[in-house]
Amino acid sequence: MDPALTHFGEQMSHLTGVRAIMKDIIETLQAGHGHEFINLSAGNPVILPEVEQLWRDCTADLLASSEYGEVVCRYGSSQGYQPLIDAIVEDFNQRYGLSLTSRNVLITPGSQSLYFFAANAFGGYTEAGELKHIVLPHCPDYTGYGGVSLIPEALIAHRPAIDLIGEHRFKYRPDFNHLEIGPQTGMVLFSRPCNPTGNVMTDAEVQRIAALADPYDIPVFIDSAYGPPFPALNFTEMTPLFGRNIVHCLSLSKAGLPGERIGIAIGHERVIQVLEGFQTNSCIHSSRYGQAIAARAIASGALAEIALKVIRPHYQQKFAVLEASLDEAMPRHVPWFLHKGEGAIFAWLWLEDLPITDWQFYQELKQLGVIVVPGSPFFPGLQEPWSHRHQCLRISLTASEADLVTGMRRLAKVAEQTYQQASLIAG
Ligand SMILES: Cc1ncc(COP(=O)(O)O)c(C=O)c1O
Repeated sequence: MDPALTHFGEQMSHLTGVRAIMKDIIETLQAGHGHEFINLSAGNPVILPEVEQLWRDCTADLLASSEYGEVVCRYGSSQGYQPLIDAIVEDFNQRYGLSLTSRNVLITPGSQSLYFFAANAFGGYTEAGELKHIVLPHCPDYTGYGGVSLIPEALIAHRPAIDLIGEHRFKYRPDFNHLEIGPQTGMVLFSRPCNPTGNVMTDAEVQRIAALADPYDIPVFIDSAYGPPFPALNFTEMTPLFGRNIVHCLSLSKAGLPGERIGIAIGHERVIQVLEGFQTNSCIHSSRYGQAIAARAIASGALAEIALKVIRPHYQQKFAVLEASLDEAMPRHVPWFLHKGEGAIFAWLWLEDLPITDWQFYQELKQLGVIVVPGSPFFPGLQEPWSHRHQCLRISLTASEADLVTGMRRLAKVAEQTYQQASLIAG
């Protein structure tokens, strides 16, 4: 059976970005036949015992309540399960001094679907045939944005400015000299904290982007999959920002519920209505079981507390180990720069003027039994060539401390050999 595919069918049936590389990684691990790989590629969060216990307790509470049948045996509203919407409204109003109502909140089956709805509602061709861009103010950014638009030419990512910090650290910043947000823009999207870099765009930078978009009624989607109040995977001070044209987007995936698929959009009533319509047409609603246990964990304050006390320190400590290992192991003559660890569950390493591609480096490192993710798929929407794109690696902080230390020592060895061989050839 080989049915003819439409243009969209062709496009959507292919894996994009890092998912294509994940296929190679899975095959490598399966073909390993007992060969022990240090896997520093995982995007799946660690199962932390306290977090698992929280969801177990919330489930037990739901099972024991009369609400159970209502939750599991019924369809519900597309906007979301009302007790979860109420818990979000109350929590955010109290925590951030807002005046949200139910109409400002939408629950989606994971946040990836939320970006898919938004990208196709606000990006792409208008009735008048005008192309509205989905602007990523700086790349690298979440690889999943590469597959969200049915109109790939709508996705436009901008190159960042790079601040070097000390000898071996750096930070990306939006380059406001080149960032274009105007009548052609349909929406703006970025992750904060950022997957893959761990960058946290500053409050001032976010406010400036929102102000550029505001006169044109352009919604700015701030992907807070790693942000406060949960999972609170920010290691630097940051304020979640709200505003007329800001849509604050959360995910419960990094707070221990990736399988239950819960994304949350908080924003202007009109934007929420559009997204809700899209959701009704495509999948009706998110799992009500997941929403019911999330409502309990948020209303009791337990989720925000566990995020601060357990989830954040776990990954922050891993970053500290990785940073110290690189400082110790990397050879002096290699021009390496680690992105400032401001949040999320990854470290991002830039090997300036790398003599081979990121993909080749990944293959070399595999030979030493370590798997990282080559950086090039994390530039969705970047239309111009940029050598930097092939000089970076994403390293997951989900591994054990011992694996991080060994992994960085082997990575340093590959880096040393690679730059040395290139200088011998050049010499
Ligand atoms: C930055 C970012 N946004 C969105 C997602 C999608 O998460 P989910 O659909 O599970 O909410 C991820 C997942 O890794 C992510 O890293």
